[in-house]
Amino acid sequence: MKFDSKFMSKVRKQFPAVEADPFGRRRAFLDNGAGTLVTKRSADKEYDARIDWSANVGNEFPESLGAEETILEGRSAVADLLNAEGPGTIISGESATSLLFSLSYALGREFSGTENVVTTGYEHYTNINPWMEMGSNGEIKELRFAEFDRETGKLDPNTIQEMVDGNTRIITVTGASNVLGSRTDLFEIGKIAKDADAYFIVDGVHHVPHELTDVRRIGCDFMVLSGYKLFSRHGSFMYAKSEHIRDLTPYRVIPAPKRGPERWEWGTRDQAMFAAISGAVEYLAWVGNPSAKRPPKEGKQRRTRLAAAFKTIERYEKELMDIALNGKGKVPGLTEIPGLQLFGPRDVDKNLGRDPTFSFKLRGYSDKPLSKRLWEKYRLAIGAEDFFSRVPALYNKKTMLRATFVHYNSRAEVLALLKALNDLSIRKT
Ligand SMILES: Cc1ncc(COP(=O)(O)O)c(C=O)c1O
Repeated sequence: MKFDSKFMSKVRKQFPAVEADPFGRRRAFLDNGAGTLVTKRSADKEYDARIDWSANVGNEFPESLGAEETILEGRSAVADLLNAEGPGTIISGESATSLLFSLSYALGREFSGTENVVTTGYEHYTNINPWMEMGSNGEIKELRFAEFDRETGKLDPNTIQEMVDGNTRIITVTGASNVLGSRTDLFEIGKIAKDADAYFIVDGVHHVPHELTDVRRIGCDFMVLSGYKLFSRHGSFMYAKSEHIRDLTPYRVIPAPKRGPERWEWGTRDQAMFAAISGAVEYLAWVGNPSAKRPPKEGKQRRTRLAAAFKTIERYEKELMDIALNGKGKVPGLTEIPGLQLFGPRDVDKNLGRDPTFSFKLRGYSDKPLSKRLWEKYRLAIGAEDFFSRVPALYNKKTMLRATFVHYNSRAEVLALLKALNDLSIRKT
């Protein structure tokens, strides 16, 4: 499939809010790293589950049986998205943050206080604080940060290797920096973790919408992702290898199920959250074959469609990144606009490439007022903050502006951002 104008328009029709804000004002939504727009299939499935399958699981009447089936379908959809072993390896939770805290409680019980955890220098605090907490509780000795190259924004896996020693029990990394866009070499780091006999954890929240994920090929023990960054609603999922689901000891109340992912889930599950993620995965499978008469069967067929979808998405997002970085025609790109300081990789293809996430500052402007101006004058929705990341502080900045594109963004929307930034830059020179 190619993102020509016909297909683009079909894709955009799947997102009811893509063209205009809730008050009907046409705009470009470029704050996808903070949360994407919701696909209609996800919202519709959630609505149906809320109305039809509102009961609790465990009983024989239809509302209860339907709730159970919806939950299983949601787990199965996430499993296919990640190429996990099956629905029994998918745990749900309120957020990626809560899931990693929950995981850190379970892992902490295994340690004696002499161990260390290795992570990258460009993590979201979601993947920092749970391990810091282990340090404060005396469960580990140290949290080590493998720093990235400030110039290129990239992390050399050797820096991870250098941090690892005989006491390393966890290596935990994000799939891509949510500020710089830099992709992490998950395959190399997976090998390092295996050699070190350490748990390998991946924060997939930012990266999963941009590349086909394969937890088995990566060889990770755990991966978290969040529905609201993946065309669905809030609520998150954690993949865990079956043996960890079974053998680790999570916090749980006594009557909670003793087996399966339910063993890890705190309180009553929300079937609507599972329905919503099923809808988002169904949408992605549609991208893989828009002319198919019906959604694919779970398992191999769905995985094949998802693989096709991400092939298309990756190719198109590369094009968007190329426009964003290098401009088009007479419109200069982010690497060329006078007074614009871009943080992170300045190239698309080299060394694993990057995600379409661009953080920057523009000379003569403070971030928040600039974000407001981009909205009010140009109708561009772009965030300005620290993005809960340690990255801005590493560059001695409190905040940055960040534009994040996903595949429903058009080439024209990328150009609209570049034109606005060029315009604003000229006003200050
Ligand atoms: C890389 C990354 N990890 C984790 C999170 C937080 O996810 P959640 O809100 O589901 O806890 C974010 C949110 O911005 C993120 O970008």
